[in-house]
Amino acid sequence: MPKYERYFLKPSIPLIKIMILIKLGGSIITNKQKPLTANVSAIKQIASHLRKVKEQCMIVHGGGSFGHYWSVKYDMHTKPDRYSIKGVSIVKNSMVELNKLVLQLFHQSGLNPYCLPPTDFIFGNKPIIKKVKEIPKIANTGLIPVSYGDVMWFGKNKFYILSGDKIMGILTRILKPRLAVFVTNVDGVYSNIKTRKLIHEITTERPTIADVKMDVTGGMNRKIKEAMNMSRNGTNVFFVNGKIPQRIVNAINDKEFEGTLFRG
Ligand code: IPE
Repeated sequence: MPKYERYFLKPSIPLIKIMILIKLGGSIITNKQKPLTANVSAIKQIASHLRKVKEQCMIVHGGGSFGHYWSVKYDMHTKPDRYSIKGVSIVKNSMVELNKLVLQLFHQSGLNPYCLPPTDFIFGNKPIIKKVKEIPKIANTGLIPVSYGDVMWFGKNKFYILSGDKIMGILTRILKPRLAVFVTNVDGVYSNIKTRKLIHEITTERPTIADVKMDVTGGMNRKIKEAMNMSRNGTNVFFVNGKIPQRIVNAINDKEFEGTLFRG
């Protein structure tokens, strides 16, 4: 029997609700200081560590020095508007390019990524619930759905920038994953950016963080806001440093981990 048929014929696949959502921030998969430069070694290292994860997971990646670079250049934001059509096209292409690279490197590391652009499950700015609910079933076959922040058609000649963080929030609300992990290039959330004092656990209070200039979707502040909402909905949310990818695995496997936990 061809391998692919086995998945469709298996009658006993349970409806899986539990999965892990992982956001690979642009700060770790690209070089944010250098336009249009991917951090190939970081992506490779993360991918090889993800092979150790035995649960179904989904990846969402950000734009970093690809999408953000062009969004800033063409003055495009998260608010739906009639932005430069050339800008829309360029931002979109840059995200497809970065996504293609992520998919290729995942493949080379022995993973089976499955590209799932947000246009597959978001219409305008609303999730297509039925489609989102299919995602765990895709993940249950052993594929790793991979989505990404993107420039989205809103209707009435308007477009908007959708961040990967926002996608994480949408997916968490609907799928209620076992946990969510935000991977960036820092250890987690710092209470003091100068002394780099790490906050190990956040329950209610939202810390204020200085933002990066090159970012149209709100940088660390947006991530914290999204993580707060996700944890209020009952999901444990971890912030970990992707430069030490074993920390992603430790967070998932409930091992002692270094980072920040937003307790759900
Ligand atoms: C940005 O996604 C997408 C575009 C600019 C098109 P994110 O906002 O999630 O990207 P990072 O992770 O902060 O770089």
